[in-house]
Amino acid sequence: MGRTSTHYGEEPFAAKYKDYLDCVSDLLANDLVRSMGKYPHHSVMNCLEHCVNVSYVSYRICRRLRLDARSAARGGLLHDFFLYDWHVTQLEQGLHGFHHAKLALQNATAHFDLNDLEKDIIRKHMWPLNITPPRYRESFVVVIADKYCTIIEVLKIGERKRISRLQRMLA
Ligand SMILES: [Fe+2]
Ligand SMILES: [Fe+2]
Repeated sequence: MGRTSTHYGEEPFAAKYKDYLDCVSDLLANDLVRSMGKYPHHSVMNCLEHCVNVSYVSYRICRRLRLDARSAARGGLLHDFFLYDWHVTQLEQGLHGFHHAKLALQNATAHFDLNDLEKDIIRKHMWPLNITPPRYRESFVVVIADKYCTIIEVLKIGERKRISRLQRMLA
């Protein structure tokens, strides 16, 4: 059943989420992925909420650009899968900002089968702080989406609408 661009009610809105959620439903059902919800991240947002934000924004952009939106959604959801509270945890390796992308990829590959694009998205999402540039256009989209989401989360722009959307996605 195709979607039409002529309806602006609840039905196409729900359908839009369904397309996205179909790409990540197995990840969102995973207990370890869900455990990101116990780690504070930006402002009132926890790490799981931030990752869903980045995943969804990346998915929408990649779909519009006819890129691999599914891999962008899945890589975006796991991009901060480092599984600790970065505000209090001191890494042996050094500063969180420089090392968490590698840790997130290690965790993600230990628990999920990832394609090369998803691995690149996770490993390179902190570019240019991590100096090796992304290899795929989808990875660049996630780099931008991560920074965009961080800014609007910290500044609490559109927070009520975003939290409402997240609650529906995570229900
Ligand atoms: Fe990150
Ligand atoms: Fe992030």
